[in-house]
Amino acid sequence: MTNEEIISLASKYLINTYNRFPIALARGEGMRVWDLDGNEYLDFVGGIAVCSLGHCHPLVTEAIKSQAEKLIHVSNLYYIEAQVIYAAQLVEKTFGQKVFFCNSGAEANEAAIKLARRFGKMNGNSERYEIITMVNSFHGRTMATITATGQDKVKKGFEPLVPGFKSVPFNDAKALEAAIDERTCAVMLEPIQAEGGVRVPTVDYLEKVREICNRHHLLLILDEVQTGMGRTGKLFAYEHYGIKPDVMTLAKALGNGFPIGAVVTTEGVAQCFEPGSHASTFGGNPLAMAAAQVVLETVSAEPFLREVEAKGEYLMDRLAELARVYNVIKEVRGKGLICGMELSVDASSVALACLKRGLLLATAGPSVLRFLPPLIVTRADIDEAVEKISQVLGEL
Ligand SMILES: Cc1ncc(COP(=O)(O)O)c(C=O)c1O
Repeated sequence: MTNEEIISLASKYLINTYNRFPIALARGEGMRVWDLDGNEYLDFVGGIAVCSLGHCHPLVTEAIKSQAEKLIHVSNLYYIEAQVIYAAQLVEKTFGQKVFFCNSGAEANEAAIKLARRFGKMNGNSERYEIITMVNSFHGRTMATITATGQDKVKKGFEPLVPGFKSVPFNDAKALEAAIDERTCAVMLEPIQAEGGVRVPTVDYLEKVREICNRHHLLLILDEVQTGMGRTGKLFAYEHYGIKPDVMTLAKALGNGFPIGAVVTTEGVAQCFEPGSHASTFGGNPLAMAAAQVVLETVSAEPFLREVEAKGEYLMDRLAELARVYNVIKEVRGKGLICGMELSVDASSVALACLKRGLLLATAGPSVLRFLPPLIVTRADIDEAVEKISQVLGEL
């Protein structure tokens, strides 16, 4: 089939929930993808921070293939060897001691929210259930996670929302402290706001948040669904800020495209759940765990992470050069290989013009272009992307 044929069938058969770019991708290899008409694209979206090792990485493909020949799914009625082994590997590389597996970022956040409510009740009283989140945050599309999300556009028409959430401005420790009362049980935030416009906090902000949580006996939940697994140049973004959360949620890049979500927490917090508290039919199934083990092993290697950091600096430098030439660029910001370019024009039309030149880019809000290339990106790929963006901006 062609792009056009699929687009026309999609409008007939799919519920219209996405503003999609007008292509259907059919094949991928490393940094490149091809559409149904055979057009090639340099991919700086990576499935929205998912395909960190690039498309169809041979080790991931081999792990999935060989596991698929042994056992695909059994349910959590039984112990799953690969799940236990992978949990131990994650624990070894994080602040945590215990892991729960699910299938997506929203589900990981739902589990974290349930943990926080149990924690509040077990360490206070039945009225201690409120979670403070941040304006401009994004935590998912389920009822609890749209309520947690600090953006009205995701909530519109879905009221009544889940009680027990309020939002305060990001990067403002005073506003956070002022919002805490006897009902508060947790603070939940992204260490770097991703969907909300790639917003990086000041260096001491997370330290202050940690200190406030300690003083008020609140759980600190970090949503690292987008920033985790090496995206920022450290395995987890919290490592940049010299703090440890009590709960961390992960998804996106865990399986390089195989759907996986995870909640990592401490021994003490994990005790708020007992058998029956929470579950997921597919969570931690053998196929997912086989993919995840390969990704963690590759991404957590120190030389790999150092390269992500160096390539992130190179990307930021090259984008800053563009900002000196084109005054539609108001700001370039980010950490590692998550970068945002704030424009004074509509970002989605710039992204579409880039696509027509063979470069895939995402947006984060109406005015921010978002760069989330697979972590295997090379400096030559970055140069090629910058050249294409320069051509597009030059024609504005
Ligand atoms: C920080 C953050 N949390 C949660 C989510 C939701 O993840 P999912 O779409 O896998 O449910 C996203 C997705 O973009 C995200 O960026």
